[in-house]
Amino acid sequence: MDMTAFFRLHDGLPREGPGSAADVLWATSRAATLADASILDAGCGPGGDVAALLQAAPDGHVLALDSHPGFVADLNNRFANDPRVTARCGDMMEAEGPFDLIWCAGAIYFVGVTQALQGWRSALSKGGAIAFSQACLFKPDPPAEVDALFEGLPVGDADQIRAEIDAAGFELIDSRPVSDDGWEAYYQPQEARIAKLRPTADPALTKVLDAAEVEMSVWRAHRDHLGYLLCVVKPKQTVPNCV
Ligand SMILES: C[S@@+](CC[C@H](N)C(=O)[O-])C[C@H]1O[C@@H](n2cnc3c(N)ncnc32)[C@H](O)[C@@H]1O
Repeated sequence: MDMTAFFRLHDGLPREGPGSAADVLWATSRAATLADASILDAGCGPGGDVAALLQAAPDGHVLALDSHPGFVADLNNRFANDPRVTARCGDMMEAEGPFDLIWCAGAIYFVGVTQALQGWRSALSKGGAIAFSQACLFKPDPPAEVDALFEGLPVGDADQIRAEIDAAGFELIDSRPVSDDGWEAYYQPQEARIAKLRPTADPALTKVLDAAEVEMSVWRAHRDHLGYLLCVVKPKQTVPNCV
């Protein structure tokens, strides 16, 4: 993909993956996140979830990390006057904790669920939780258009995601699909941007705009098959051996 064209579509949008404040607040409630929690927003994009994370932890702090400087600049502009937010360009696996909550919306696939959970374990405070969303097939035998969307990348079902959580030594506290509102919050600003860019788009940008429109129409037509699963997990408690 032409990344210059990709960022012409994506830079400046409010969020870079599906999700809503209601999704964040459901997860923070299941994770029992406290008002003064220290939170890592891993792969934060432009910071679409930061306001909701602060709603859950009004006396806490959010460290927002992303590898794309443009998103971090947007986030710094949005929260310039809020001392509860620190936004940095960096690798989400290299944040030093301790964090009471690691929130990772639509970004864990860059590392892999098992690898990311294992990597973050030492950055969690005692009793801390991780909440992440991951692409998921909700039914067997997806239509060909759904398969084509992932271009051969393996996308698992809920059982596979649970197995990856288990393999990392974590337990699943709860899970639910990311809401339809969350998907529309991601897609509708993209649609408005596409309408602006389309009339003067060169071939590289046209390809990116076409691909985005295909993705939206496939999700809207087949959302019973395909979505993101939002999971709240905690490290398994090891039971000491009694001799
Ligand atoms: C699909 S977007 C989701 C962004 C945001 N969480 C949201 O929901 O709007 C994934 C983000 O992960 C970031 N990313 C990918 N690998 C990363 C890494 N190793 N460290 C930090 N950020 C990363 C990308 O730059 C991108 O902004």
